[in-house]
Amino acid sequence: MVNYIEWATDWSKELMRVCKRGAVVAVFSSTRTLAHIQIALENAGFYARDVLVYRRHSGIPKGLNIEKKLDKIGDTNAQQWQGWHTCLRNEWEAIVIVQKPLKNNYIETIQMTGLGPFKAILSDGSFQSNILEGFSKGRDENFDEHCTIKPLSLIRKLLELFLPQDNSHIVLDPFAGTGTTLIAALELGYQTIGIEIEDQYINIIQQRLGEYFGKIGQEFEVFD
Ligand SMILES: C[S@@+](CC[C@H](N)C(=O)[O-])C[C@H]1O[C@@H](n2cnc3c(N)ncnc32)[C@H](O)[C@@H]1O
Repeated sequence: MVNYIEWATDWSKELMRVCKRGAVVAVFSSTRTLAHIQIALENAGFYARDVLVYRRHSGIPKGLNIEKKLDKIGDTNAQQWQGWHTCLRNEWEAIVIVQKPLKNNYIETIQMTGLGPFKAILSDGSFQSNILEGFSKGRDENFDEHCTIKPLSLIRKLLELFLPQDNSHIVLDPFAGTGTTLIAALELGYQTIGIEIEDQYINIIQQRLGEYFGKIGQEFEVFD
């Protein structure tokens, strides 16, 4: 776990360096790593705004079925552990929301940077919950090689919640995966930068960007 904390500390500091004042940062995290992510971000200088619950349709149960494991190694007490497991069904992910410090207060920051408030009042007049649910991937959003692809509709929702419609803002995803954030940002009219380390995912990003820009008749460039 020490390496994980060091890793989170390193990228949190870099994020603090490149974000503009008032920038909102949303980090998906498992229930086991949430506390470390939150502390790394706060130690880097961000301050806590909320932790959203992204409620998924299904979670893959990981961990050990104790009875089965004991049975496999020939433990004669295996049966007394029937029904015991090392984890619960994993049905939600945390989204840690932090912000680069304000200039004095929300109002001065909004006037200076156009950032900070949440689009909390919905078109039907209701108030946005901090539990996000009911998002699912479209048929064209399944790329088998990548196991943690987020639904495009979920990322669009996050951008709409935190980013006022002003195309001077730049959406950064330093862990771009299959590029879901990039596509959502482009669809909403923002400039966007994505960074991804794995060639196989870069290929998927290129394919998705190619399809997006093909539809609107524009070219794009990828930098190594
Ligand atoms: C959880 S996935 C993101 C999935 C993305 N939200 C999507 O919908 O496709 C995180 C990605 O970060 C990438 N990654 C990990 N370390 C990285 C690094 N140091 N620089 C750039 N990308 C990195 C991994 O290869 C992985 O594809």
